Amino acid sequence: MTMMVEGVDDRPFIPTEYVIRFARTPWERAGYHALRREVFCAEQHVFADDDRDAVDQAAIPIIAACCMAGMPDRIVGTVRIHEPEPGVWCGSRLAVHADHRKLGRIGAELIRMAVSTAHGLGAARFLAQVQEQNVLFFRRLHWKSLGKIVLHGLPHHEMEADLSRYPAHGQEQTWLLRPQPRERQVA
Ligand SMILES: CC(C)(COP(=O)(O)OP(=O)(O)OC[C@H]1O[C@@H](n2cnc3c(N)ncnc32)[C@H](O)[C@@H]1OP(=O)(O)O)[C@@H](O)C(=O)NCCC(=O)NCCS
Repeated sequence: MTMMVEGVDDRPFIPTEYVIRFARTPWERAGYHALRREVFCAEQHVFADDDRDAVDQAAIPIIAACCMAGMPDRIVGTVRIHEPEPGVWCGSRLAVHADHRKLGRIGAELIRMAVSTAHGLGAARFLAQVQEQNVLFFRRLHWKSLGKIVLHGLPHHEMEADLSRYPAHGQEQTWLLRPQPRERQVA
């Protein structure tokens, strides 16, 4: 009998640890922008060469970093949060590197840090404009759709998080994430 890991059998390397926290250092910020470009420009073609915009002036950048020997080695996840009007916070630029998706709940944990941080900063509402193919993902994480919209020519939903599911926390947190993929047995 052989043990196999569902969905990740063909991956050459499965990291054992990730950290999630604010991007504070130049290295973290460079990796944060590089991954956004990779996902939103090169992969999804939502933007041509650069996805940065005016929101970046005010937004708090959050990253997931893949660790090697206990040290952050590569930025593999991003999200940013900002407060466009008092009490209303928004999340955007959620991205996980393609090699690390559906592996360690990185996307879900980035959302949790984004919403719980904003909650701790006084958010009364937390909103995001979500690409249509990710609406179910957000619904499972206690978000509701407020309606369909078109953004960058693509179908999206305006969505709102249920803040009661995202307890407020402070800004100095570093979360350690250890992927625990489901195992299946094959004969
Ligand atoms: C959407 C995205 C951030 C998800 O990140 P991820 O790290 O793969 O997601 P997670 O591992 O945290 O997923 C948690 C669960 O949701 C499921 N899930 C992931 N993406 C999903 C989707 N689009 N629809 C439904 N379920 C999804 C996972 O299978 C997992 O299920 P499980 O708990 O039963 O194992 C990632 O696919 C991505 O970066 N996509 C490209 C950029 C993008 O679309 N950004 C969002 C713009 S709105």
